[in-house]
Amino acid sequence: MSASLIELLTGRVEAQTGLLAVREHAAEAVTVADPVHAEDVQLALTLLYELHYRGVEGVDDRWEWDPDLLGVRAGLEEVFERAVRERVHTMLTEFTGAAPETRPTGEQVAQTLLALTAPTSAPGLSTYLARQATADQYRELLVTRSIYHLKEADPHTFALPRLTGAPKAAMVEVQSDEYGGGRPDWIHADLFARTMRALGLDARYGHYLDQVPAVILAGVNAMSLFGLHRRLRGAVAGHLAAFEMTSTTPNRRYAQGLRRLGFGEAATLYFDEHVEADAVHEQIALRELVGALIEQQPELAADVLFGAATALVLDEEASGHLLSNWKAGRSALREQARVKVSAA
Ligand SMILES: [Fe+2]
Ligand SMILES: [Fe+2]
Repeated sequence: MSASLIELLTGRVEAQTGLLAVREHAAEAVTVADPVHAEDVQLALTLLYELHYRGVEGVDDRWEWDPDLLGVRAGLEEVFERAVRERVHTMLTEFTGAAPETRPTGEQVAQTLLALTAPTSAPGLSTYLARQATADQYRELLVTRSIYHLKEADPHTFALPRLTGAPKAAMVEVQSDEYGGGRPDWIHADLFARTMRALGLDARYGHYLDQVPAVILAGVNAMSLFGLHRRLRGAVAGHLAAFEMTSTTPNRRYAQGLRRLGFGEAATLYFDEHVEADAVHEQIALRELVGALIEQQPELAADVLFGAATALVLDEEASGHLLSNWKAGRSALREQARVKVSAA
């Protein structure tokens, strides 16, 4: 499906024929057992969403609003969202010991968010990176993270026109920092690019897409799904809150590991900046964004929790993928597409 989509978008086939092929393949692709791990589904979603961000090289910008492609995307989104909702339901049920509330109160959402994001003693990905990851494993981390961090904050920003009043002001405050607070060289996406270059990687937008496994793309696609659908504006707020609330400790450890490996400020600045910025962002996101939004629109509470839990569930799965491969002495990147990412 993704191959036929690329043929269509790049004009290598006539539009009518190409669309027919994409639709045919998509109908088959949506029957896959687990869309989160389906390379074809996640790559196609990434390409279709990218039309709404910076576009794809060699692709006519008008494809962004092509009704047939939007139809294909809707079919993929439906199975993807269902798979994510199932995961979230299982996670929340296991965590609280009961099925999640359909209409939680603002206080219940805040308490659940705090409990879900509380630091655990179990050593995870960031501990591994701090203590024992090699420089090449760091490069793999950056390659996988580049899909989001080179457009950091953009998916959530799509929600801004859908918010009003206090939650809107809170989100603007957070996003303003993400975009450098008026200083172009402090745009977080650009700080991340600096880190990539410091480790000898190519920081061009989307450069490593072929190497990034489905489970990582799924985490980014979930943000785009939330950001591009007004009905999911509650999920955007929850997602952003969970993201900010689980940021400072891992970022401190990522910077630690880089220093252990002898990398300097060019490599660590992105992570150091997040230790400071996100300590503030998590407060704003929880109280002023999520809290105010639920107060304003109580019917969004369950979706706020859904968005937050999605961030956590998919991040855990992605981290598990990296860790299990590294501990087994393997690369965590896609085998078929793997090229040498080490610095020359
Ligand atoms: Fe950031
Ligand atoms: Fe942040």
